[in-house]
Amino acid sequence: MTFYDEVGGQPTFDAIVDGFYAQIPDDDILGPMYPPEDMAGARDRLAWFLAQYWGGPQTFSEQRGHPRLRMRHAHFHVNRDAAIRWLELMKNSLDQIPETTLDDTHRAAMWEHMERVAAMLINRPD
Ligand code: HEM
Repeated sequence: MTFYDEVGGQPTFDAIVDGFYAQIPDDDILGPMYPPEDMAGARDRLAWFLAQYWGGPQTFSEQRGHPRLRMRHAHFHVNRDAAIRWLELMKNSLDQIPETTLDDTHRAAMWEHMERVAAMLINRPD
């Protein structure tokens, strides 16, 4: 059993990412950064990445190659406010996932990873 399996596999990752992306179009900071013509693609890329990181299928690598997340975010204006907002929207989404699917231990591990990556992706002072 991988972490991916323990939290319910693909449907759980889909729900987390769908809940996150549902908030993006109306968000004043993040909305303008994401490609309106390819929101479905953006959604898939994040779902693939998270599923792969937690032990699921290697779809991200197959489709996108090495993650190189800092490089892939370099042309976006990722300041502290953007990172805080990303985490806020993700927290809203995670809060919708029931405890029966994502218990405290798994939730905390996932959150810790997201906070760590978000901090690492900051690439502008303001
Ligand atoms: C810190 C705030 C963040 C901002 C402002 C941000 C913004 C963006 C934007 C605008 C995209 C392009 C959407 C697309 O077309 O794919 C993107 C892609 C992506 N982001 Fe973030 N992101 C942030 C944090 C994170 C975090 C914390 C993770 C992982 C836990 C993450 C993982 C990804 C992945 C996997 C992609 C797709 C990369 C690719 O395949 O090209 N991002 N992000």
